[in-house]
Amino acid sequence: VGAATACAPSEGAVTPSLAAAAPASPGTGASASTVGAPGIGDPDFPTDGNGGYDVQHYDLRLSYDPASRKLAGSATIEAKAVQDLTSFDLDLHGLTVSRVTVDGGAASFSRSKDELVIEPGGQISNGARFEVTVDYSGVPEPMRDSANLGEYGFISTPDGAFVTCEPNGAKTWFPSNDHPSDKATYDFRITVPAGLTAIANGEMAGTPQTNAGKTTFVWREKHPMASYLATMTTGKFQIRTGTSARGLPVYVAVADNYRGSLDQLYTQTAKITDYWSTVFGPYPFSSTGGVIDDYAAGYALENQTKPIYGGFSPAPTIIAHELAHQWFGDSLTIKRWRDLWLNEGFATYAEWLWAEHTGQYTADSAFRRYYANAADPMWSYPPGTARPDDLFGAAVYNRGAMTLHALRREIGDDKFFPLIRAWTDAHRYGNVTTQEFISMAELISGKNLKSLFDAWLYEPRRPAPIP
Ligand code: ARG
Ligand code: ZN
Repeated sequence: VGAATACAPSEGAVTPSLAAAAPASPGTGASASTVGAPGIGDPDFPTDGNGGYDVQHYDLRLSYDPASRKLAGSATIEAKAVQDLTSFDLDLHGLTVSRVTVDGGAASFSRSKDELVIEPGGQISNGARFEVTVDYSGVPEPMRDSANLGEYGFISTPDGAFVTCEPNGAKTWFPSNDHPSDKATYDFRITVPAGLTAIANGEMAGTPQTNAGKTTFVWREKHPMASYLATMTTGKFQIRTGTSARGLPVYVAVADNYRGSLDQLYTQTAKITDYWSTVFGPYPFSSTGGVIDDYAAGYALENQTKPIYGGFSPAPTIIAHELAHQWFGDSLTIKRWRDLWLNEGFATYAEWLWAEHTGQYTADSAFRRYYANAADPMWSYPPGTARPDDLFGAAVYNRGAMTLHALRREIGDDKFFPLIRAWTDAHRYGNVTTQEFISMAELISGKNLKSLFDAWLYEPRRPAPIP
């Protein structure tokens, strides 16, 4: 979300320069090929992710030196084949690969754009579990898309790195199946010069160890996570830890020049996470938190357990947005990017709910303020199909949130809030589609909601007013 408001400023268009045709979805068994597809089957991002296997776990050993900007890594990936494989891809942007092993044996590899193509030298059978280790190093280059997504991925800063990967920047710092439809658990072992802090997802295992001027931080995310939510943000930070009123561990870090925001970030993060757990259902992870880095990204990202705010001290509604994403985006993760309103529409609606809860303004007044502007460009952008050339368009956020409000008015609070909790419960840690949400809304309300969702999500015009 943007620094000041929920509106993602994203004017202009860029043509995606993706060469490959959309591959078959993994696991269809339709193809006799033993070559894993170079994409996982997202029609709008045809080379993102890969076919032929499903990652279970990433074990990332990383060492970063801010002075030389050099990253050295060894990534061990545990995966399960979903077809016979004589070769398969990982996604990796830049960096130099020195060695690849599959189940301990040397494997040959080649690079083609952002694909690392691996040939294990024998066939991996459909259903088999296998382990790939990739040793690599170099100066990471972030992804750059000035017309749409801006700069994202591994972004080096004077004292470390700001690491925000949505939608496909995980490949700038580790070889991955870089698409949200393949979630996995993560272990991180990150070494940085002594005096710096390395922050990743989940919880820290043990206390950081310092040896010969370097400190190693071990972090573990034991719940499934999409690659775009992984982080290894590093630098000089002030830390505050504790436990929320409802007993959840809290870890908050702010860059030195935001030290005046440490306590308010801590207090709001604890309070809002606790409140959302009464509205959306049980908090899905084992800790909550937040990071303010001094890199002026101008946006925030809902990194799992550690939302990050790029160069600004967030207002409570923004914290509420990023923490709502822990349910909508992080626990329930979209299967395809075009369903992004399931993340951003819900998180924006959460801003309105927080404003209502704290007496600033009501969700209904927010809805009516947007509705009143007949000239808003969001009326020509149906948010149910987020466009790859304008993924974070304001319509996906605001018209997405309005869709939920229209639904709430149609089915009433006594169906709407139970629906939200049933939604987070049924798909916890999984992948979701818009159709699954519509079906559940119809089931719980007992109403046919096709015309409501069509008007709000799929038609390029302003829907009729709601009662
Ligand atoms: N999901 C983020 C939010 O909280 C927005 C990320 C924007 N990403 C980017 N590459 N500019 O709204
Ligand atoms: Zn968001």
